[in-house]
Amino acid sequence: MAKENILVIGANGQIGSVLVTYLRDIYGENQVVAADLRQPESETGIFVLLDATDAQALARTVRRYGITQIYHLAAILSANGEKEPLKTWDINMKTYFNVLEVARESGIQKIFYPSSIAVFGGNITGVAPQEAALNPSTVYGISKVAGENWSQYYFNRYGLDIRSLRYPGIISHQSMPGGGTTDYAVDIYHQAVKGEDFTCFLESETRLPMIYMDDAIQATVNLMEADAGRLTVRNSYNLAAMSFSPKEITRNIQEYIPDFKVSYQPDFRQEIANSWPDNLDDSPARTDWGWRASYDLDKTTREMIGALRKKYQLIKG
Ligand code: NAD
Ligand code: SER
Repeated sequence: MAKENILVIGANGQIGSVLVTYLRDIYGENQVVAADLRQPESETGIFVLLDATDAQALARTVRRYGITQIYHLAAILSANGEKEPLKTWDINMKTYFNVLEVARESGIQKIFYPSSIAVFGGNITGVAPQEAALNPSTVYGISKVAGENWSQYYFNRYGLDIRSLRYPGIISHQSMPGGGTTDYAVDIYHQAVKGEDFTCFLESETRLPMIYMDDAIQATVNLMEADAGRLTVRNSYNLAAMSFSPKEITRNIQEYIPDFKVSYQPDFRQEIANSWPDNLDDSPARTDWGWRASYDLDKTTREMIGALRKKYQLIKG
């Protein structure tokens, strides 16, 4: 494998904190630079305190570590984004333009740009096709559509090898989600394992596309390592793994924790969820680079409950 120096921006977030460990296992401890606005809870490798809205600070980091690839994870997600729309647009776009420009100017070989199910709007019912008309309802979704289009532009105009996935909501035990509409599907497991009731901010029948963290990481790395000649989608690939409602995940958890109780108090996130599809058609990802999910809802539930039981026992001491 060619020697890569990888920069992960937004490394302390839900995905970044798991991805950095995975990339270090593949490429080597000193080959992966973690960067974030916030200090990490524990420092285990190279870490840079970086505000990616600062183009010069980003360029200095790229030069200092001889970066060849960037995973640009920093963003304000859907629910938090609606609280401060202009700030969200500013941060999501400015950080991405800085990444695109530093890559163009310094000859970086590859970029990973995470997109989202939030690019779809209420015009799609059921399963979203790869080539759907994109009418996002949130500022977060608008920024992701713009990011996808700019990715395509930089690829066509400058030959920058940008690869992107429209992630479903990600379910993880290692890290907590950062202010999205799919966050309930992580929170619910924590409450169930702690033996507490859960109040869901979405209605019981609201279906959304979801994916287990291990699958999301595998998809990301597989796409980044795929032969460029096989990639036919240069805005962002649909990615699918499972789709369920709060009622269905509750029933599944109750198979392992029968006393678990859930009530429903929908808030502003319900409207966001209503505008998103139930699932995505990910045929191009399957055909082009062999994507297949390994985790369905039941396997995810078993993994989440097992890992969180260990985690909370450890905390109790
Ligand atoms: P997160 O909110 O958990 O983490 C984002 C990280 O970026 C945080 O650690 C934050 O401190 C950092 N950050 C914010 N602004 C920054 C800046 N200016 N400079 C440097 N760092 C900054 O998000 P996540 O869930 O890990 O998501 C990562 C990416 O994946 C995002 O682009 C998100 O849109 C996308 N995505 C996530 C999901 C999901 O379910 N988690 C689904 C679809 C897409
Ligand atoms: N999980 C993300 C959110 O809910 C989807 O991009 O915002």
